[in-house]
Amino acid sequence: MPIHPDTLRARFREHFVAEPRLFRAPGRVNLIGEHTDYNDGFVLPLALEKSTWVAAAPRAGKRVRVHSAAVGETKEFELGTSWPARRGAWVDYVEGMAVALMQAGVPLAGADLLIDTEVPVGAGLSSSAALELAVGRALIGVSECELTPVALARAGQRAEHEAVGIRCGLMDQLTAALGQAGHALLIDCRTNEATPVPLPLDDVSLLVVDTRVKHSLATSAYNTRRAECEEGARSFGASSLRDVALDAFHAREAQLRDPVRRRVRHVLEENARTLDAADALRRGDWVRLGQRMSASHRSLRDDFEVSCAELDFVVDTALALPGVLGARMTGGGFGGCAVVLGRHAAEAALSASLRAAFARWFGREPGLFFTRAGPGAGEVRA
Ligand code: GLA
Repeated sequence: MPIHPDTLRARFREHFVAEPRLFRAPGRVNLIGEHTDYNDGFVLPLALEKSTWVAAAPRAGKRVRVHSAAVGETKEFELGTSWPARRGAWVDYVEGMAVALMQAGVPLAGADLLIDTEVPVGAGLSSSAALELAVGRALIGVSECELTPVALARAGQRAEHEAVGIRCGLMDQLTAALGQAGHALLIDCRTNEATPVPLPLDDVSLLVVDTRVKHSLATSAYNTRRAECEEGARSFGASSLRDVALDAFHAREAQLRDPVRRRVRHVLEENARTLDAADALRRGDWVRLGQRMSASHRSLRDDFEVSCAELDFVVDTALALPGVLGARMTGGGFGGCAVVLGRHAAEAALSASLRAAFARWFGREPGLFFTRAGPGAGEVRA
């Protein structure tokens, strides 16, 4: 459900009896470049038009009171520089973000926050980065401080590593911070340089399909994949897989243990595919972009092993439908969403057929929405 600024303001007034400022940060969908960010590689995501919103006002002292409208809970904590114990709850992201900012030297003031979100949670659309960035923007805003978007993104990543325990890369936070309406971002995760690439969705459409599968193993499996990539890089004497060339890999791949060999192959080929996909996008070559997306899915399924039956079903079903140019899982995997690139003219038939096929096979409805690229995090002024 879209969030209306006036409704959010009214709820804040009711809850905290003060006049708030509003901040928001978007979720993201990744076109291609998966599990490459923490290997210093390339990614090509876009910010969604769905955001997490935070209404915020400063309060005297060093306390933060925060209400989640989605969960219907209020929590409180004292601003400080030590990491809180992990509770496995939404407030870990909020307090984690505050600690990361304080550790980065931002002198935060106490605040009252009310949070609501349009981003489906746990669906691989980066609801966590949206929460971190929206909270970060709000805390900085009401404290009358400044921080660059990249530094804000880094604080979000630290919160995730330390307060949540996922050793994520920086793609999600950078996309939430730097997203541009009408553009995908080609991000070089070695330098964190983001180049906007126009994404004109007139002849083609992007459909996001949420399998609504939430894997409880996701945290540990994600960290395991990352460790396997690091092991792969070490076996080439490299500090990251970015420094391993494909031909060097082919020359020595037999010496790598399985599954490390396949994990490395995915990352190296995915980097090449991502650069090629960005080039295809610049040239308006939708067919080539679609092919790269589908190849990325096969690699994530077979070599990186982060797909699942529901994601494979959506991708296979989509690829057999008229007007579909490419399809793949998006985000960390083990559940969550697939993204489908299709001809605009076939849009209505595509979503209806996918919905029906999924419901027939799994006995329940998937979530479906078309998206364009939205803007990055910011304050919403009245
Ligand atoms: C999650 C992480 C990102 C990235 C993707 C996989 O979304 O937060 O940093 O690693 O998985 O591409």
